[in-house]
Amino acid sequence: MAAMAAKLMHAVQYDGYGGGPSGLKHVEVPIPTPKKDEVLLKLEAASINPIDWKIQKGLLRPIFPRKFPHIPVTDVAGEVVEVGQGVQKFKAGDKVVAYLNAGNGGGFAEYATASESLTVTRPPEVSAADAAGLPVAGLTAHQCLTQAAGVKLDGTGPQKNILVTAASGGVGQYAVQLAKLGNTHVTATCGGRNIDFVKSLGADEVLDYKTPEGAALNSPSGRKYDAVIHCSTGIPWSTFEPNLSPNGKVIDITPSPSALLTFALKKLTFSKKQLVPLLMSAKAENLDYLVKLVKEGKLKTVIDSKFPLSKAEDAWAKSIDGHATGKIIVEP
Ligand SMILES: NC(=O)c1ccc[n+]([C@@H]2O[C@H](COP(=O)([O-])OP(=O)(O)OC[C@H]3O[C@@H](n4cnc5c(N)ncnc54)[C@H](OP(=O)(O)O)[C@@H]3O)[C@@H](O)[C@H]2O)c1
Repeated sequence: MAAMAAKLMHAVQYDGYGGGPSGLKHVEVPIPTPKKDEVLLKLEAASINPIDWKIQKGLLRPIFPRKFPHIPVTDVAGEVVEVGQGVQKFKAGDKVVAYLNAGNGGGFAEYATASESLTVTRPPEVSAADAAGLPVAGLTAHQCLTQAAGVKLDGTGPQKNILVTAASGGVGQYAVQLAKLGNTHVTATCGGRNIDFVKSLGADEVLDYKTPEGAALNSPSGRKYDAVIHCSTGIPWSTFEPNLSPNGKVIDITPSPSALLTFALKKLTFSKKQLVPLLMSAKAENLDYLVKLVKEGKLKTVIDSKFPLSKAEDAWAKSIDGHATGKIIVEP
């Protein structure tokens, strides 16, 4: 173990806020040592989420990152190579997927330590890249649908009309697929080039967000939405409001200050139509559920692109650009 700790690994980190892709530095650092309740993973794939570069921008300062230099990225898949003394569920050789603590990050590296409680087993049918796409994006889509929108993914619940905005993005692609496991009619928005792709994910009707009808969010079949899984940004409440059913909710995963004001006003006035800000809270049982869906062929990770860790800054730039179709994967 001491020998392992002394060994170096390749990693990509930043030393301070700002700088975007050029703020990332390639370094050799010691392979981390797992704490009592942690596993050490040899990484096979990681996926980027917008929160990763928003943390670099300083959006969550002074809380995140916990310290500099910081190795970003939280969503990883790999193989267990060492376990802390208290770890019960895993042993060396196990293939897993994990959500790393957002404050610590660690995914842009050859090895990372993950908490046992947010690590789940990955069966051989689920590739490292497909699994690495799941933690933040998959868990957020799952939480929006099951917790906030009340959709039962076994199809037993009452029929609901769902709108997914930015259905071509990391969260949106999972949200469309998961919504269709429930008893739902799904309307989705995306750019014109992705309409067929989003239909192939199961969406019942798709709007190009650059057309007037798309910008107005009007359902082509005239439906009113019981829940909006809002994965894009910049749409005011006045655009959502006429499209909602009497008890319709907008679940906003990137709430702006004006969205938070709307949330407060709707609460104070006991409005039936609500805006619900949502922050993902990672749970291993839900990640395990998503991995099983992928294994069973009921959910897939759509991969926008793959980059080697040596080109991490290109992957970072691609995510910042905001036009990925599915997940951006980085492989050590
Ligand atoms: N609250 C939470 O816990 C939580 C968790 C995860 C993510 N988020 C946030 O949720 C947002 C989405 O995350 P993500 O990972 O899905 O992002 P992403 O993968 O980077 O999203 C990119 C996609 O969004 C599409 N898009 C952009 N603007 C659009 C619009 N106005 N209408 C329709 N589609 C649009 C783009 O399509 P085009 O290329 O055609 O423009 C592209 O396919 C981010 O702001 C992220 O920070 C929050």
